[in-house]
Amino acid sequence: MAVDDMSSDNGIAVIDLADIDSGPGFKRICEEVAKACEEWGFFHIINHGVDMSLIRRTQKAYKDFFHLPKEEKKKYAMTKVYQGWYSPELYDDSDVKKFPLNIGNTSECLYYIVLSDNPNHETVFSLIPPDLRPTLLEFTKEVAAAQERVLAAMSVALGLDAAALQKRCESIDVGIRANYYPLQTEGKAVGEILPHSDLPAIVFLFSDTVPGLEIRNDGRWVPVKPVPDAFVVNVGDSLEMMSNGRFRSVEHRATGNETEERMSLVSFYMPAKAATIDPIQELLDESHPPQYGSAKYGDMLSALISQRLNGKAFVNSLKIKS
Ligand code: OGA
Ligand code: NI
Repeated sequence: MAVDDMSSDNGIAVIDLADIDSGPGFKRICEEVAKACEEWGFFHIINHGVDMSLIRRTQKAYKDFFHLPKEEKKKYAMTKVYQGWYSPELYDDSDVKKFPLNIGNTSECLYYIVLSDNPNHETVFSLIPPDLRPTLLEFTKEVAAAQERVLAAMSVALGLDAAALQKRCESIDVGIRANYYPLQTEGKAVGEILPHSDLPAIVFLFSDTVPGLEIRNDGRWVPVKPVPDAFVVNVGDSLEMMSNGRFRSVEHRATGNETEERMSLVSFYMPAKAATIDPIQELLDESHPPQYGSAKYGDMLSALISQRLNGKAFVNSLKIKS
């Protein structure tokens, strides 16, 4: 069957988390999560526990920002700490071009680390546009809690303790990136994010009902059809490494369109910079030798920033050559 004729979502799982707190519910969820992470590295979650009215408020706060005149947004222009507003149009000749965001043409994004144990965090937090700050904090706390529930299911899916993956991440940072793809108008290029994989442990994406996200599977680009009120969850490179390649961090890309503006809210659940990322010992034995070397998350991040994102080239460079 051709990709386009397949089931409503091309076979990408929709996992219902409503009964995650019951024993049988958790068990079913772990089984579905294992399958989804092994086959696709992507799945949808519904009944995720993040309040829908909070999501709507967060979307509105971000849209209000993106709809501001450029001169206003420039006040929040991305700095060397890689946080703030980014638009490729603005940075023709500066260093910022090197930021590994892979945002192309007319797309823009606004990125901040919202939750962190870093002692400088208050200073960073104060850079967030004031109208966005309280809603964003509330949103990020709820999303991070949902991410920890999903990580627990992923841990058990790997045959580990429920707390194992979260522990391996140590004191986490949660960054939120809103990507904005304006309505494509005549004579203007369509907004896009070029192919890449995500470095963090796991990533949640909320893009509402506007399509545009595609993932690479078996060499083909497969559209991720939107599921109302759902988050799209994907495995990041760090989790691929921790799981010794059992869970897949999959290349993806996105575009805007000419009928509707598109905005995605992306939550990156990142290990501490000092955390060591390598295959978890319990997953290794004679028939499952380590597939990846070991690196500190912070060093992986710096290496990534100094390259530009290029598909899965980065995580592949950490693979042990056999
Ligand atoms: C990202 C990303 C896709 C989208 O921000 O890492 O993959 O749909 N975004 O905006
Ligand atoms: Ni991504």
